[in-house]
Amino acid sequence: MMAHVWIADIGKHVGEEVTLKGWLYNKRSSKKLVFLQLRDGTGIVQCVVFRPDLGDEIYDICDKMPQETSLSLTGTVSKDDRSEIGYELQVKKVEIAAYPTQEYPITPKEHGVAFLMDYRHLWLRSKRQNAIMRVRHELIMAIRDYFDINGFTNLDAPIFTPNACEGTTNLFEVGYFDTKAYLTQSGQLYMEAGAAALGKVYCFGPTFRAEKSKTRRHLTEFWMIEPEVAFIDLDGDMDLMEDFVCYIVKRVLEKCRRELEILERDVTALEKIKKPFPRLTYDEAYARLKELGSDFEYGTDFGGDDETMLTQSFEVPIMVHRWPREIKAFYMKRDPKDPTKAMGVDMLAPEGYGEIIGGGQREDDYEELLKQIDKEGLPHEPFEWYLDLRRYGTFTHSGFGLGLERTLAWITGIKHVREAIPFPRMMERLSP
Ligand code: 4AD
Ligand code: MG
Repeated sequence: MMAHVWIADIGKHVGEEVTLKGWLYNKRSSKKLVFLQLRDGTGIVQCVVFRPDLGDEIYDICDKMPQETSLSLTGTVSKDDRSEIGYELQVKKVEIAAYPTQEYPITPKEHGVAFLMDYRHLWLRSKRQNAIMRVRHELIMAIRDYFDINGFTNLDAPIFTPNACEGTTNLFEVGYFDTKAYLTQSGQLYMEAGAAALGKVYCFGPTFRAEKSKTRRHLTEFWMIEPEVAFIDLDGDMDLMEDFVCYIVKRVLEKCRRELEILERDVTALEKIKKPFPRLTYDEAYARLKELGSDFEYGTDFGGDDETMLTQSFEVPIMVHRWPREIKAFYMKRDPKDPTKAMGVDMLAPEGYGEIIGGGQREDDYEELLKQIDKEGLPHEPFEWYLDLRRYGTFTHSGFGLGLERTLAWITGIKHVREAIPFPRMMERLSP
């Protein structure tokens, strides 16, 4: 029995005899040869079965092997410049582990997205989906490293919550013993408590929104990274998000070249992501939209089309700050220079990907915060603990939330966020 080697490591074994384990991805054959494309999750490699060496029986087995058969192949690794990964396996031994009991539903031909989503558990095996999940992994690592390097403490927020954070219209309610709870929309309020306890904190977990929108940017369950920092104001918050986004894009560019190539992502667009990002007030953004001929109504939130129009003349993300109070969440600090504005900021990605970050400076005045809670008709009781943060040594603080799937969709250049998460949850999809 030869040592099992992962396809990703095959380059370290040139000239050696190794055993690869995996599944048949694709094949082609001629009279004398069968080329088996073996995948093991870490890569795909061409394995050459030479009829005069292995005999007619093995040749026939390989020639007729159905897609997704699981098998082991033992043979010698050789360098091959024509192959995508630079190596091939000259097969000496073929061992079938299991044949599919039915024909594999996803063939190399084109399928509709709804069909592929029904088979998401199998679709993840395909080359493109594999590449997207690898970039997702690298992005998560980069996010954690950024905050770790910069002295943040990871502090996880609860998922069952007693109150709303981002408005009451899209809350998922669940039974909680004799009472009810809501699935968290954001860990922010808890991170504010964390900032007072640990200075610089972040949480990273799933968040839930009962969004009735069927757009390419909406999931009902998505992952959000939420830093919160004591003693920084709105400008400091924008400095942080800009630096953070540059770091994570650079990391993916460094570590995921092959994946971005598989996804046919134009990396030159990503290479341009450098500081500084333009900062526009909401009023400036409004004026710009008008100049561009939009019928956007002052005082409303941007729709997807407005975001696309607004960002199309920029090659880097833009930050829109100082929003009309009425359309932003209760916790945002009132602008001392203009009480009609809230000190919130959204970061909009280029190439039509829209909002990837929402954040801002928090209201640190007890009376003001209470007024906002009342204005939104929110009950006091579940917010008492949050008001304590303003009772006991209130402090300037800011933070933001970056949506992982929207950011991944932008970086990988995929159209819809549903491919940016292993098992998407959307209004019309709860399975597999
Ligand atoms: O702008 P949002 O609602 O901000 C907050 O939740 C703040 N409490 C965060 C904070 O300051 N700590 O959401 C933040 C980001 C959005 O910019 C977007 O990237 C993502 O979360 N997001 C969604 N992603 C996928 N599907 C949805 N339905 C999303 N809703 C928000
Ligand atoms: Mg937002």
